[in-house]
Amino acid sequence: MSVHPAFEITRSDRSRQGTAARLPARAGAGFKPQHADAILKDDFRIGFLEVHAENYMGAGGHPHRILTRMREDFPLSIHGVGLSIGSPTGLDPEHLLRLKTVVDRYQPEQVSEHLAWSTHDSHFLNDLLPVPYDQATLDRVCDHIDQVQEALGRRMLLENPSTYLGFEASTMSETDFIRAIARRTGCGLLLDINNVHVSATNHGYGARDYLADFPLLCVEEIHLAGHAEDVDDAGLPLLIDSHDRPIDDLVWDLYDHVIAKLGPLPTLVEWDNEVPDWPVLKREAQRADAILDRHAIVELGRRHAS
Ligand SMILES: [Fe+2]
Repeated sequence: MSVHPAFEITRSDRSRQGTAARLPARAGAGFKPQHADAILKDDFRIGFLEVHAENYMGAGGHPHRILTRMREDFPLSIHGVGLSIGSPTGLDPEHLLRLKTVVDRYQPEQVSEHLAWSTHDSHFLNDLLPVPYDQATLDRVCDHIDQVQEALGRRMLLENPSTYLGFEASTMSETDFIRAIARRTGCGLLLDINNVHVSATNHGYGARDYLADFPLLCVEEIHLAGHAEDVDDAGLPLLIDSHDRPIDDLVWDLYDHVIAKLGPLPTLVEWDNEVPDWPVLKREAQRADAILDRHAIVELGRRHAS
């Protein structure tokens, strides 16, 4: 299997990936327009903002006016939720063009998408659905990522999914599948730690075992979010990636574990439903910042000692 040159650079030295501006290794927040004034007036300066690309695919008006103002003051990550990278029928060229228009307009420090599919023929499904981990899907997903990176003229990050079921057709693990994508396409990875916890609980494997096998050196951004707890028909725990509440303590523990291994990384607090007032979201971001600061100090001490 061919290895993309960007994959080797990512693995050997993450500080040398091109000259493009990058997100700071601090906590960021999913941007909601109702928080704009509070964010701009706050003495606490959030590290970066992330928006869903699909919310800015219209030509003009209020959303663009607000985001243009925020962009003047904050690093920006554009996160797509509708490209359907895992689509069995190919990428929608019109959606890709709309994504390119948003990226060209805002020149974000980072662009990311999900390992999922959400369109079938011309129907848009309101969910991020899982893909089977087999060779045919791997080839197709790599092809799609090549197309996206070519169209945007830049690398993208791919996010690990939260899943509720597996496919009998899968012939490799999720971590092997994601590693193979990074090797072949040179894309970076967005590690959603809540997704790891949700999937691990739903499938009954260990989140730390998953992380031990994940290509962590390719991770350039982290997502943290809240999830809802339910039970399945057999009475077993079922977690839903709901983004509607504070981050669970078990997810904070996993985050601490990852940052201890990798050092500080840009970390987004996602909160998309039942969105609270800014101070609540800010508290979550400050908790992430405290963990990042603690490990930055440890890393600095290690460097001084060596
Ligand atoms: Fe996420």
